Amino acid sequence: MLFAVYKVVTNILNKKESLDDIFSRFHSPEVPIFKDRDSLLATHVPESLPHRDKEIAGLANVLGPIMRGQTPSNSFLYGKPGGGKTVVAKYVIQYLKEKAIGVGVNYDYAFLNCQHVDTEYRLWATLCSKIGEHVPTTGLPTKDVFDIFLKTLEEKKVHMTIVLDEIDLITKKAPDSLYSLTRINSDLEFSKISLIGITNSVEFKQSVNSRIRSTLMEQELVFSPYTAAQLQDILKERVIEGFAENVVDASAINRASALAAAEHGDARRALDLLRVAGEVAEQKQDAKVTSIHVGMAQEVIEKDTVKEVLIGLPIHSKIVLLAIIKLDIARGKSKKEEDMISTGKIYDNYLKLCDRLTIKPVSQRRVGDLINELDLLGMIRANVISKGRYGRTRIITLAVQRAEIVHSLRNDSRMVEELPN
Ligand SMILES: Nc1ncnc2c1ncn2[C@@H]1O[C@H](COP(=O)(O)OP(=O)(O)OP(=O)(O)O)[C@@H](O)[C@H]1O
Ligand SMILES: [Mg+2]
Repeated sequence: MLFAVYKVVTNILNKKESLDDIFSRFHSPEVPIFKDRDSLLATHVPESLPHRDKEIAGLANVLGPIMRGQTPSNSFLYGKPGGGKTVVAKYVIQYLKEKAIGVGVNYDYAFLNCQHVDTEYRLWATLCSKIGEHVPTTGLPTKDVFDIFLKTLEEKKVHMTIVLDEIDLITKKAPDSLYSLTRINSDLEFSKISLIGITNSVEFKQSVNSRIRSTLMEQELVFSPYTAAQLQDILKERVIEGFAENVVDASAINRASALAAAEHGDARRALDLLRVAGEVAEQKQDAKVTSIHVGMAQEVIEKDTVKEVLIGLPIHSKIVLLAIIKLDIARGKSKKEEDMISTGKIYDNYLKLCDRLTIKPVSQRRVGDLINELDLLGMIRANVISKGRYGRTRIITLAVQRAEIVHSLRNDSRMVEELPN
């Protein structure tokens, strides 16, 4: 991904430099833009987290009993993407570990991203390795790996917090493990486990069964999206760590914050915009990062995400997108209700396109699912509106530039004939 972004940056600037020049420029840049570029990446936990005092204190209060060797409640963090859930959880438990060990409490934590835990076996095996017990990656019965985890944990006489980041994914891939985790303390005598679940999925709460819900969600912390002004404060702090002094102009911070605030107050997007803006400035050998670089960074990031998302889509999703694009063109600037893009209209257009492309269509219901997926992927927005006594309907709008989608769809030879110019 980073490499891809770098490639696009290079292409955009369309500069011809020898390899030698490029590497030398990185080694001793004429105008150093970054002080510590890595500190701008998602894995870095910064020293301060502006506008998250309430959430930090909330989580610290839940985990506090660990300082007395007691088992805390389980907690559950949720909110929109880029709201600081992951970083707040890391910040608090890293701090707690130091403090707890300082007062002689045997405390540890395991941070799991459920994206990488695709089976129950994998979950227990990963947890084993986090406490220093290596089990083979396959081959044993799952129950045995679970038992090894319990036994090792008991020997360690430790209190352990298990953070399940993106916990919604585990319910899909390894649903039983969540149940076992919420019950695990009844099998332990000398050690104890506490859980922190994190998700940005609004459906997760409804989708888990009520027993898991009541154990896991003893304490809920909601992370609200950042406003543009809050994002500015966050960026100002991160600029000090990541960029050389006086390199980033206020206009760059303001624009990155405004753009990210429009995207559900996403701090990740704000940071990415600023980092890529820095890369653009570095490439152009400009001395300052300004709002213009942020504008270019937005292009780079958008191009890149649209392309990456579309490459992986099945043909039917692409046809659905194309149907939406055609309706969007036909609608022009009209704001009339009858010109809005409804799911019914999309399906009619989808059928026509399938016919012309000689592709067997899927059912209307399946197209409804594909529309949801495109919404999740950030390509479109589906808003439910009430039509009075006619019930509710979904209105679809494009969430990225039409031209970007058309451009990326050109890579699929099957669609080329049908694409608008
Ligand atoms: N208050 C803050 N101060 C400084 N950096 C922040 C703050 N909040 C978020 N960030 C940074 O923004 C990025 C996104 O935050 P984080 O990964 O914690 O979001 P998230 O809520 O876990 O999102 P998702 O639901 O998509 O996983 C990270 O790089 C993080 O360090
Ligand atoms: Mg996260």
